[in-house]
Amino acid sequence: MEELIEKAAEELARATNVAALTGAGISVESGIPPFRGPGGLWEKIDPMEYAHIDAFLKDPVKVWNVLLKDMKALLDTARPNPAHLGLAHLEAMGILKTVITQNVDGLHQLAGNTDVIEFHGTFAVHRCMDCNRRRETCDIDLDRIPPRCECGGIWRPECVFFGEMIPSRALWRSQQAAESCDVMLVIGTSATVQPAATMPAIAKQAGARIIEFNEEETPLTGWVSNYRIPGKAGNVLDRVVKRVEALRG
Ligand code: OAD
Repeated sequence: MEELIEKAAEELARATNVAALTGAGISVESGIPPFRGPGGLWEKIDPMEYAHIDAFLKDPVKVWNVLLKDMKALLDTARPNPAHLGLAHLEAMGILKTVITQNVDGLHQLAGNTDVIEFHGTFAVHRCMDCNRRRETCDIDLDRIPPRCECGGIWRPECVFFGEMIPSRALWRSQQAAESCDVMLVIGTSATVQPAATMPAIAKQAGARIIEFNEEETPLTGWVSNYRIPGKAGNVLDRVVKRVEALRG
Protein backbone atom coordinates (compact mmCIF):
# COMPACT_ATOMS: atom_id res chain seq x y z
CA MET A 1 0.00 0.00 0.00
CA GLU A 2 2.77 2.46 0.98
CA GLU A 3 4.60 1.60 -2.23
CA LEU A 4 1.50 2.23 -4.32
CA ILE A 5 0.91 5.58 -2.64
CA GLU A 6 4.49 6.60 -3.39
CA LYS A 7 4.21 5.39 -6.98
CA ALA A 8 0.98 7.33 -7.56
CA ALA A 9 2.48 10.46 -5.98
CA GLU A 10 5.55 10.24 -8.24
CA GLU A 11 3.41 9.81 -11.36
CA LEU A 12 1.19 12.74 -10.38
CA ALA A 13 4.14 14.98 -9.53
CA ARG A 14 5.44 14.48 -13.08
CA ALA A 15 2.04 14.85 -14.77
CA THR A 16 0.64 18.06 -16.23
CA ASN A 17 -2.77 17.08 -17.55
CA VAL A 18 -4.57 14.80 -15.14
CA ALA A 19 -8.25 13.88 -15.37
CA ALA A 20 -10.29 12.20 -12.65
CA LEU A 21 -13.33 10.00 -13.15
CA THR A 22 -15.30 9.78 -9.91
CA GLY A 23 -18.27 7.78 -8.70
CA ALA A 24 -20.43 7.33 -5.63
CA GLY A 25 -17.56 5.83 -3.59
CA ILE A 26 -15.82 9.21 -3.35
CA SER A 27 -18.83 10.65 -1.51
CA VAL A 28 -19.38 7.75 0.91
CA GLU A 29 -17.17 9.47 3.50
CA SER A 30 -19.43 12.52 3.14
CA GLY A 31 -22.34 10.37 4.36
CA ILE A 32 -23.89 9.61 0.96
CA PRO A 33 -24.46 5.88 0.42
CA PRO A 34 -23.25 4.26 -2.82
CA PHE A 35 -25.57 2.52 -5.29
CA ARG A 36 -24.03 -0.94 -5.30
CA GLY A 37 -22.39 -3.15 -2.69
CA PRO A 38 -22.99 -3.18 1.07
CA GLY A 39 -25.38 -0.42 2.15
CA GLY A 40 -25.98 0.47 -1.50
CA LEU A 41 -29.20 2.16 -2.56
CA TRP A 42 -29.91 -0.37 -5.30
CA GLU A 43 -29.73 -3.16 -2.70
CA LYS A 44 -32.76 -1.57 -1.05
CA ILE A 45 -34.79 -0.36 -4.00
CA ASP A 46 -35.01 -1.48 -7.61
CA PRO A 47 -33.55 1.24 -9.87
CA MET A 48 -35.87 0.25 -12.71
CA GLU A 49 -38.83 0.91 -10.44
CA TYR A 50 -37.59 4.21 -8.99
CA ALA A 51 -34.78 5.66 -11.08
CA HIS A 52 -35.99 5.02 -14.62
CA ILE A 53 -37.56 7.94 -16.46
CA ASP A 54 -40.61 5.81 -17.34
CA ALA A 55 -41.15 5.11 -13.63
CA PHE A 56 -40.99 8.83 -12.86
CA LEU A 57 -43.40 9.73 -15.67
CA LYS A 58 -45.81 6.98 -14.61
CA ASP A 59 -45.83 7.71 -10.89
CA PRO A 60 -43.93 10.85 -9.85
CA VAL A 61 -45.46 10.76 -6.34
CA LYS A 62 -43.92 7.32 -5.70
CA VAL A 63 -40.49 8.31 -7.03
CA TRP A 64 -40.53 11.58 -5.08
CA ASN A 65 -41.59 9.83 -1.86
CA VAL A 66 -39.20 6.88 -2.01
CA LEU A 67 -36.11 8.28 -3.74
CA LEU A 68 -36.00 12.03 -4.31
CA LYS A 69 -37.17 13.34 -0.93
CA ASP A 70 -34.43 11.43 0.90
CA MET A 71 -31.84 12.40 -1.71
CA LYS A 72 -32.70 16.07 -1.26
CA ALA A 73 -32.36 15.79 2.52
CA LEU A 74 -28.97 14.03 2.20
CA LEU A 75 -27.50 16.30 -0.44
CA ASP A 76 -28.72 19.52 1.23
CA THR A 77 -26.30 18.93 4.10
CA ALA A 78 -23.42 16.85 2.64
CA ARG A 79 -19.95 18.42 2.75
CA PRO A 80 -16.78 17.59 0.77
CA ASN A 81 -14.46 15.03 2.42
CA PRO A 82 -10.64 14.78 2.16
CA ALA A 83 -10.92 12.97 -1.22
CA HIS A 84 -12.80 15.89 -2.81
CA LEU A 85 -10.45 18.35 -1.12
CA GLY A 86 -7.43 16.39 -2.36
CA LEU A 87 -8.62 16.70 -5.96
CA ALA A 88 -9.16 20.44 -5.48
CA HIS A 89 -5.62 20.68 -4.13
CA LEU A 90 -4.26 18.81 -7.17
CA GLU A 91 -6.00 21.37 -9.39
CA ALA A 92 -4.55 24.25 -7.37
CA MET A 93 -1.08 22.73 -7.91
CA GLY A 94 -1.67 22.84 -11.68
CA ILE A 95 -1.71 19.04 -12.02
CA LEU A 96 -5.40 18.12 -12.31
CA LYS A 97 -7.36 19.75 -15.11
CA THR A 98 -10.77 18.10 -15.27
CA VAL A 99 -13.05 16.08 -13.03
CA ILE A 100 -15.57 13.86 -14.79
CA THR A 101 -18.09 12.86 -12.15
CA GLN A 102 -21.03 10.49 -12.23
CA ASN A 103 -22.19 12.04 -8.97
CA VAL A 104 -24.97 14.61 -8.79
CA ASP A 105 -24.05 15.93 -5.33
CA GLY A 106 -22.02 19.02 -6.35
CA LEU A 107 -19.28 18.20 -3.81
CA HIS A 108 -16.38 18.62 -6.26
CA GLN A 109 -17.43 22.20 -6.96
CA LEU A 110 -17.90 22.86 -3.24
CA ALA A 111 -14.39 21.53 -2.64
CA GLY A 112 -13.01 24.01 -5.19
CA ASN A 113 -12.58 22.19 -8.51
CA THR A 114 -13.45 24.52 -11.36
CA ASP A 115 -13.77 22.20 -14.36
CA VAL A 116 -16.28 19.56 -13.32
CA ILE A 117 -18.15 17.61 -15.98
CA GLU A 118 -21.40 16.33 -14.48
CA PHE A 119 -21.86 13.21 -16.55
CA HIS A 120 -25.19 12.27 -14.97
CA GLY A 121 -26.39 15.84 -14.49
CA THR A 122 -26.93 17.56 -11.16
CA PHE A 123 -29.30 17.44 -8.23
CA ALA A 124 -28.54 21.08 -7.40
CA VAL A 125 -31.12 22.33 -9.89
CA HIS A 126 -34.68 21.26 -10.72
CA ARG A 127 -36.60 21.78 -13.94
CA CYS A 128 -40.34 22.07 -14.44
CA MET A 129 -41.57 19.24 -16.65
CA ASP A 130 -44.12 21.58 -18.27
CA CYS A 131 -42.62 25.07 -18.67
CA ASN A 132 -38.89 24.15 -18.39
CA ARG A 133 -38.31 26.85 -15.73
CA ARG A 134 -35.25 26.03 -13.58
CA ARG A 135 -34.92 26.48 -9.83
CA GLU A 136 -32.24 25.73 -7.25
CA THR A 137 -33.07 22.58 -5.31
CA CYS A 138 -32.83 24.38 -1.96
CA ASP A 139 -35.80 26.51 -3.09
CA ILE A 140 -38.02 23.56 -3.98
CA ASP A 141 -40.84 23.29 -1.45
CA LEU A 142 -41.53 19.71 -0.40
CA ASP A 143 -44.68 20.45 1.64
CA ARG A 144 -46.62 18.91 -1.18
CA ILE A 145 -45.48 15.80 -3.11
CA PRO A 146 -44.85 15.94 -5.96
CA PRO A 147 -43.56 19.50 -5.70
CA ARG A 148 -45.05 21.72 -8.37
CA CYS A 149 -43.99 24.85 -10.22
CA GLU A 150 -46.22 27.94 -10.30
CA CYS A 151 -47.46 26.78 -13.71
CA GLY A 152 -48.70 23.51 -12.17
CA GLY A 153 -45.98 21.33 -13.74
CA ILE A 154 -44.01 18.83 -11.66
CA TRP A 155 -40.41 19.56 -10.65
CA ARG A 156 -37.79 17.02 -11.62
CA PRO A 157 -34.08 17.07 -10.80
CA GLU A 158 -31.66 17.90 -13.62
CA CYS A 159 -30.11 14.43 -13.15
CA VAL A 160 -30.02 11.75 -15.78
CA PHE A 161 -32.59 9.04 -15.03
CA PHE A 162 -32.04 5.55 -16.41
CA GLY A 163 -33.44 5.53 -19.94
CA GLU A 164 -32.30 9.12 -20.63
CA MET A 165 -29.43 10.36 -22.78
CA ILE A 166 -26.17 11.59 -21.31
CA PRO A 167 -26.04 15.39 -21.87
CA SER A 168 -24.20 15.60 -25.21
CA ARG A 169 -21.77 18.31 -24.11
CA ALA A 170 -20.79 16.28 -21.04
CA LEU A 171 -20.18 13.22 -23.19
CA TRP A 172 -18.15 15.14 -25.75
CA ARG A 173 -16.05 16.99 -23.18
CA SER A 174 -15.40 13.79 -21.21
CA GLN A 175 -14.15 12.02 -24.30
CA GLN A 176 -11.84 14.95 -25.04
CA ALA A 177 -10.52 14.97 -21.46
CA ALA A 178 -9.97 11.20 -21.59
CA GLU A 179 -8.13 11.40 -24.90
CA SER A 180 -5.82 14.21 -23.82
CA CYS A 181 -4.90 13.38 -20.21
CA ASP A 182 -1.55 11.89 -19.22
CA VAL A 183 -2.92 10.26 -16.06
CA MET A 184 -6.51 9.33 -15.21
CA LEU A 185 -7.51 8.80 -11.59
CA VAL A 186 -10.52 6.51 -11.35
CA ILE A 187 -12.00 6.99 -7.90
CA GLY A 188 -14.86 5.19 -6.15
CA THR A 189 -16.71 3.90 -9.18
CA SER A 190 -17.81 0.32 -9.82
CA ALA A 191 -17.25 1.08 -13.54
CA THR A 192 -20.42 -0.79 -14.45
CA VAL A 193 -22.56 1.98 -15.96
CA GLN A 194 -21.93 2.97 -19.55
CA PRO A 195 -20.83 5.16 -21.21
CA ALA A 196 -19.02 6.65 -18.16
CA ALA A 197 -17.17 3.38 -17.57
CA THR A 198 -15.60 3.60 -21.04
CA MET A 199 -13.63 6.79 -20.25
CA PRO A 200 -10.68 4.99 -18.59
CA ALA A 201 -10.36 2.69 -21.64
CA ILE A 202 -10.40 5.72 -23.96
CA ALA A 203 -7.67 7.35 -21.84
CA LYS A 204 -5.60 4.16 -21.75
CA GLN A 205 -5.91 3.72 -25.52
CA ALA A 206 -4.60 7.27 -25.96
CA GLY A 207 -1.55 6.49 -23.81
CA ALA A 208 -2.54 7.63 -20.30
CA ARG A 209 -1.67 5.87 -17.07
CA ILE A 210 -4.77 4.74 -15.17
CA ILE A 211 -4.70 4.69 -11.37
CA GLU A 212 -7.70 3.25 -9.56
CA PHE A 213 -8.72 4.20 -6.02
CA ASN A 214 -11.28 1.71 -4.80
CA GLU A 215 -11.88 -0.47 -1.78
CA GLU A 216 -12.83 -3.33 -4.12
CA GLU A 217 -11.73 -4.67 -7.48
CA THR A 218 -13.76 -3.53 -10.49
CA PRO A 219 -14.03 -4.69 -14.11
CA LEU A 220 -11.16 -2.26 -14.85
CA THR A 221 -8.78 -3.73 -12.26
CA GLY A 222 -5.80 -5.53 -13.70
CA TRP A 223 -6.90 -4.79 -17.23
CA VAL A 224 -7.54 -1.13 -17.95
CA SER A 225 -6.06 0.26 -14.73
CA ASN A 226 -2.30 0.04 -14.30
CA TYR A 227 -2.85 -0.54 -10.58
CA ARG A 228 -5.46 -0.13 -7.87
CA ILE A 229 -4.86 1.45 -4.50
CA PRO A 230 -7.23 -0.14 -1.98
CA GLY A 231 -8.69 1.63 1.04
CA LYS A 232 -11.03 4.53 1.64
CA ALA A 233 -10.66 7.26 -0.96
CA GLY A 234 -10.53 10.08 1.63
CA ASN A 235 -7.66 8.57 3.53
CA VAL A 236 -5.71 7.34 0.50
CA LEU A 237 -6.03 10.50 -1.62
CA ASP A 238 -5.12 12.69 1.30
CA ARG A 239 -1.88 10.73 1.71
CA VAL A 240 -1.12 10.72 -2.01
CA VAL A 241 -1.67 14.47 -2.35
CA LYS A 242 0.54 15.23 0.67
CA ARG A 243 3.35 13.19 -0.94
CA VAL A 244 2.85 15.03 -4.26
CA GLU A 245 3.22 18.32 -2.40
CA ALA A 246 6.42 17.12 -0.75
CA LEU A 247 7.86 15.88 -4.06
CA ARG A 248 7.07 19.15 -5.85
CA GLY A 249 8.78 21.08 -3.05
P1 OAD B 1 -21.44 2.39 -7.36
O1 OAD B 1 -22.27 2.44 -6.14
O2 OAD B 1 -21.82 1.48 -8.44
O3 OAD B 1 -19.94 2.02 -6.96
C1 OAD B 1 -19.28 2.63 -5.89
C2 OAD B 1 -17.84 2.12 -5.89
O4 OAD B 1 -17.14 2.82 -4.87
C3 OAD B 1 -17.68 0.63 -5.60
O5 OAD B 1 -16.79 0.08 -6.55
C4 OAD B 1 -17.09 0.59 -4.18
O6 OAD B 1 -16.18 -0.50 -4.03
C5 OAD B 1 -16.38 1.90 -4.10
N1 OAD B 1 -16.30 2.51 -2.76
C6 OAD B 1 -17.26 2.56 -1.81
N2 OAD B 1 -16.87 3.28 -0.76
C7 OAD B 1 -15.60 3.71 -1.04
C8 OAD B 1 -14.64 4.50 -0.35
N3 OAD B 1 -14.89 5.04 0.85
N4 OAD B 1 -13.45 4.72 -0.95
C9 OAD B 1 -13.18 4.19 -2.17
N5 OAD B 1 -14.04 3.44 -2.86
C10 OAD B 1 -15.24 3.20 -2.32
O7 OAD B 1 -21.32 3.90 -7.87
P2 OAD B 1 -21.00 4.46 -9.34
O8 OAD B 1 -19.93 3.69 -9.99
O9 OAD B 1 -20.81 5.91 -9.19
O10 OAD B 1 -26.31 6.50 -12.23
O11 OAD B 1 -22.36 4.20 -10.09
C11 OAD B 1 -22.51 4.64 -11.40
C12 OAD B 1 -23.92 5.09 -11.67
O12 OAD B 1 -24.84 4.06 -11.28
C13 OAD B 1 -24.38 6.27 -10.83
O13 OAD B 1 -23.97 7.50 -11.38
C14 OAD B 1 -25.86 6.16 -10.89
C15 OAD B 1 -25.96 4.68 -10.61
O14 OAD B 1 -27.11 4.05 -11.03
C16 OAD B 1 -27.52 7.01 -12.44
O15 OAD B 1 -28.32 7.15 -11.53
C17 OAD B 1 -27.81 7.35 -13.87
